Amino acid sequence: MHIHKYEKIWLWSGAVCLTIFLLIVGVSAFAMGNQPPSHMETIDPEKAAVTAPFDKPGLNKIGDKEYEAVMLAQAFTYTPSKMKVPLGSTVHFKVTSTDVVHGFEIPSTNVNMMITPGYVSEITHTFDKPGKYLILCNEYCGAGHQLMAVTLEVTL
Ligand code: CUA
Repeated sequence: MHIHKYEKIWLWSGAVCLTIFLLIVGVSAFAMGNQPPSHMETIDPEKAAVTAPFDKPGLNKIGDKEYEAVMLAQAFTYTPSKMKVPLGSTVHFKVTSTDVVHGFEIPSTNVNMMITPGYVSEITHTFDKPGKYLILCNEYCGAGHQLMAVTLEVTL
């Protein structure tokens, strides 16, 4: 079969462009160790509940209006299930999962992360409005997924 010379050139240049593109994407995505910044710390999910600081989940005061919320996500709740901080508090959430992938979202804030077993996810938020904030799971995790929510109360 005869292929026109220009057609051959275009076919080859297309293949070369595609190869270069895939190489760039592949190298930048995997070879340089790029990972989401919130997923830097690792943990054994089966031992998460007995590994510090997750063996004592809860709210720890670490400064003036500054707290660390150590939380465990498991089907189908979070531990602790209730927290209370004064208005204007900055909360550093440190969350891991003991089983499957869960979500961690606080509607009306920018808090939204994925909780992957084996990793510690961290996010910080300052609560400038009083009220009851819902912390909920936005990753389908099983039959009780829609029940997976706890509250954080910001008091005046
Ligand atoms: Cu946990 Cu959905």
